[in-house]
Amino acid sequence: MELTAKEFVPISLTEFVSGVAIPVDLFVRLGEEKFVLVAKAGQHSNVDQFKNYQNKEVAYLWVRKKEYYKLAHQSISLAGIALSKRELNDKQRTSLVTHAARSVFKQMDHLGFDLELYNNAKQITLAIVGLVENHKSLSDLFESLSGVSDQLLSHSIGVSSLSVVIGQALGYEKKGTLEKLAMGGLLHEIGLKAIPAELARKPMSAMSHSEVALWETHAFRGMQMLLSLGIVPDDVVSIVYEHHENSIGQGFPQRLRDVKMHPLAKVVSLADSYADLILPNINIAVTKNPREALMYIEHTLGIPFNKEAFRALKKIIDNDKKAA
Ligand SMILES: [Fe+2]
Ligand SMILES: [Fe+2]
Repeated sequence: MELTAKEFVPISLTEFVSGVAIPVDLFVRLGEEKFVLVAKAGQHSNVDQFKNYQNKEVAYLWVRKKEYYKLAHQSISLAGIALSKRELNDKQRTSLVTHAARSVFKQMDHLGFDLELYNNAKQITLAIVGLVENHKSLSDLFESLSGVSDQLLSHSIGVSSLSVVIGQALGYEKKGTLEKLAMGGLLHEIGLKAIPAELARKPMSAMSHSEVALWETHAFRGMQMLLSLGIVPDDVVSIVYEHHENSIGQGFPQRLRDVKMHPLAKVVSLADSYADLILPNINIAVTKNPREALMYIEHTLGIPFNKEAFRALKKIIDNDKKAA
């Protein structure tokens, strides 16, 4: 089957590291619609070979759009492995987390979030990543997310920037408020660190009743962990505690209804569920595109989230589609 330019995304040659098995087929672009396979998935990257391309003025290799997430996932997982090495200095850690964050952002760009609004969200989330990195106690917590699973690091970064995007579309303008959303998104699953790692990595469908009950304690445990640090703003602690509540009172741990939920938790709870539909994770076999994910929330789930927040997200995706 012929593939067209619409089905590919460019990856700069500078993004490849030598000696790592590349999880996707790589192509060079020879003409408007002409792509030639140069490396099969599973082959080890060879930066010297890529340099040859560079001499021939090839600045990018091309990857099938629908496979891009595999590459993003790999760089996040490499960052996760590197972060767990204690000998790294703070500068190296910061650059790894920033690299992982960029991969998530790029993945979301390719999903269609290329609005100016989204760029602001990226910057805010990156600033928060920096802040987390500079606070030793927060930094240890954040890094340990990658020890639970590397998908969790990308999920957290994704939820962080989606929360800022939705918050902006709802009219939140103050930098401090947007930063709380970004930080709440980044740390919302921190309580998973306190439950057995095998359980945190298990799909929901494979858990027994008692395992689900134990897993659900992560919201409360997350709140406790952040409170014990004494430096996290109360609003962020509330976001973490309430990120599994929903507007119809069927969430956990408190079964709060919309009126009782913290306004920022309403945003993060929607961003959390939405991210789980569009970014790869253990609970779904196939990710949805942004429109399909909206339809699913609207028609299958019946919008169990704050209605204004959902309308704001819908507006972002609709505008984006028109712009495309
Ligand atoms: Fe959670
Ligand atoms: Fe989450």
